Parts: sequence; structure tokens; C-alpha cells
Amino acid sequence: MKILVTGGTGYIGSHTVVALQNEGFDVVIIDNLCNSERKVVDSIAQITGKKPIFEEIDLVDRKKTLECLKKHKDIVGVIHFAALKAVGESVKKPLFYYRNNIYSLINLLEAMQSNAIDNIVFSSSCTVYGQPDQLPVKEDSPLKKAKSPYGNTKKMSEDIIIDTSEVTSLKCISLRYFNPIGAHKSALIGELPIGIPDNLVPYITQAAIGKRKYVRVFGNDYNTHDGTAIRDYIHITDLAKAHVIAINRLLSKTNKKQFEIFNLGTGRGNTVLEVIESFEKVSGLKLNYKFVDRRKGDIEKVWADTSFANRELGWKAEKGLDEMMISAWNWEKALAQKAD
Ligand code: UD1
Repeated sequence: MKILVTGGTGYIGSHTVVALQNEGFDVVIIDNLCNSERKVVDSIAQITGKKPIFEEIDLVDRKKTLECLKKHKDIVGVIHFAALKAVGESVKKPLFYYRNNIYSLINLLEAMQSNAIDNIVFSSSCTVYGQPDQLPVKEDSPLKKAKSPYGNTKKMSEDIIIDTSEVTSLKCISLRYFNPIGAHKSALIGELPIGIPDNLVPYITQAAIGKRKYVRVFGNDYNTHDGTAIRDYIHITDLAKAHVIAINRLLSKTNKKQFEIFNLGTGRGNTVLEVIESFEKVSGLKLNYKFVDRRKGDIEKVWADTSFANRELGWKAEKGLDEMMISAWNWEKALAQKAD
């Protein structure tokens, strides 16, 4: 069975393509390569022994999107990752974010409709919960006003899909990720931030390899046991597996509603200092870090209630923080070796 993965050369997309191909699916990737590299397709082939079909297309281009789905008639489901995701950049360039993330979704949904493709797994985020009043956060927790245009595009995208699914045969599983980190054990694919990383773990590994002077820890005056903010970090390959389960659920029509939502996290929260400690432990290195002001828009703490995903999807994140940090570090070292 053939699955379309938009954003399939990106960080979460590439790991999901590997998981899909390992489960016997054929994959067509659509990516505009705005934040990823074409050679990721070869790395996927190296890991799985199978090269996915690659189409360099910008989903904002309605005509090309329609043509592409028409060409690949046998696609039975879509996993939609393609989107811009830098929180800070989205605050500075809201229209760019809305145009990219919203137009691309609408074009994709229209192209799916024209080709009678009913199944979509959507890449959402825990950002839609804001700072929840109750922790751990459940899928039916009230959604807060998004703190950034990026976050708002995730909320708006879910609404667009819900409205469409109410009047068509479209079925969707929206996966709300907590903080995906780490890399595939082969160290052939991983997170490839362009420029200065926004996210904590690539910043840590880049500091350790010498690309950054020190790790800036954003805030040590939060109401947590060590004063630094808490997130629910989840290994990228655990996250990727959940996508295979979700698309299978839609294809086998075992979904219980037209639009379902699942939290994907471990259910455990770790502070920034605990992440740093874990990195130091597994790498045997001492990290240089400094406390700086809180980052605007950051929330204090969030972690997932994963019981619904555990029960309904039969899925559970297996890997712990140390394992996540080892894989992230191996990936950074592999990148450095290639650069030499
Ligand atoms: C953010 C988004 C999330 C999105 C993800 C993708 C919000 C609330 N969250 O996650 O929806 O999917 O980015 O990019 O918008 N930190 C440091 N130093 C750094 C970097 C981060 O101390 O150099 C801290 C942050 O303050 C935070 C934690 O590390 O407490 C994790 O930050 P990060 O990796 O950027 O992810 P989020 O902001 O949680």
C-alpha cells in the first residue's frame, strides 16, 4: 500500500518514512526542501534497503499538488508533516507562516478529495494546550489561545480538517507531539537544523561538539524543583512508530470517530537541567552552560497523559531520556565526521 508523506525528508518525516517502509508500505515523499536535504532520501534507502519516491513540490502550489496526487493514483493515505515550525520566526513573519502552513493544508485536502483519498494523519503539537491548568495534560483539556502564529497554524489546521471531515468522508488522526528528540540508531538520519538551533537538544549537541560556546538555559526561576522549565521529551523513533499505527488504524477502519486526537509523549516531564545532566552522563563530557532570561512565549511545564494513546493505539513510548541523548549525540558526531 502506498502512503504519501509530506515533509518526508524533514526530521520527523524521515524517521516515519523509515518506519513505514520497514512495515512494508511504499512511500511517496513530497517536500520542497526548504528545511531539509535531498540526500536524506538516500539515507532512508541505506537504512531500509528501499528508495522512496521523491517529488520536489511546494504544497502551496495548488496545481502541482493536484497533478502529483493524480499521478500517484494508488495512494491510500497521507501523513502530513510539511510545515514551517520555528516559533520565534513565526512571530516575526506571521503571514509567511499562515500562507505556508494553511494554504498547503487546503491544497493537500483538495487534492485528496479529487483523488478520493480519505485518510490523513496530521502532525499537530502540544503547543495547542498552552500552559495547561492540569497536568498531565489529556486530549480533552481546554485549548488555550496560541502563543505564536506557528502554534495557531496547528490549531487552525485541526479546525480545517474537522470542518472538512464533518461534511465529507475524510478521516483524520491528529497526533499532538510533545518534544521529539534523538535520532535513528544508524546515525544516518536525525535533526538537521539550519543555522542556530531553536530547540534544546540540537543546541546541546552542537555546544558539545564545539559549534556553540555554551548552552543558554532559558530561565532558572520557574516553579519547578530546580527552577528550569519542564517538557515531555520523546524519542523520535517511538514517535515515528505511532504514525504507522495511526495510518493502519485509518486504513483498517478501526478508528472510532472521523477525527481523533492522541497525545504522543512519554508521560514523564524533565527539566532543562535534567536533560543536560543526562547528556553529560551518556557522553562523559562536561557541558558549558549559562542561565539567561526566560525565552518569550515559553511555558513553565507540560507533560502528557498518554493513557488514551496507550490504550486505544496499543502504543507506548519505550525509550528513556539517556537513550534519547545517546542517539542525538551519535548523530551529531556522525555529522561532524562527514563534514571533516
Ligand atoms: C517548541 C514548541 C513546540 C514545537 C517545537 C518545535 C511551544 C510552546 N512549543 O517546543 O510546539 O513543536 O518547539 O520546534 O511553542 N531551551 C533552553 N535553551 C535553548 C533551547 C531551549 O533552555 O537553547 C529550553 C526551553 O526554554 C524549553 C526547553 O528547553 O524549556 C525545550 O525547548 P525547545 O526544544 O525549543 O522546545 P519547545 O519550546 O518546548
